[in-house]
Amino acid sequence: MAIERTFSIIKPDATRRNLTGKINAKLEDAGLRIVAQRRIQMSQAQAESFYGVHKERPFFGSLVSFMTSGPVVVQVLEGENAVAKNREVMGATNPENADAGTIRKEFAESIEANSVHGSDSPENAAIEIAYFFAGSDIVG
Ligand code: CMP
Repeated sequence: MAIERTFSIIKPDATRRNLTGKINAKLEDAGLRIVAQRRIQMSQAQAESFYGVHKERPFFGSLVSFMTSGPVVVQVLEGENAVAKNREVMGATNPENADAGTIRKEFAESIEANSVHGSDSPENAAIEIAYFFAGSDIVG
């Protein structure tokens, strides 16, 4: 299995509760390596563009407000099968449906304030990583 990279965001509900370290420990315990990481305040334009695929969804405006409501931590994770592995560690989008032990089951407040984002495919991971990181920011 080839080493893969995925993109991750620790969302404002989690940074507000000082959960960055606890979430990073879960990622690392799952065998993912944090090869780039930056704490930022997303602008409205950045959030609208990043989540552009959801712009027709009823929750889009609320999602953009939420993602700009406080700091987020953008990350690149590396490891075997990193996209699928990260999705497994995150758990289902809706914390009510997430498996025990997953980040969203333990930490998410709601389907919107669900603590983390992770890319859904290697193709989208490459696009999402390039949105926030230059190649020289990523040190494996
Ligand atoms: P994320 O994996 O970042 O992708 C889109 C985000 O929209 C999702 O996590 C949630 O934070 C948010 N969201 C809010 N409401 C919904 C919903 N009904 N279905 C899916 N995602 C939602």
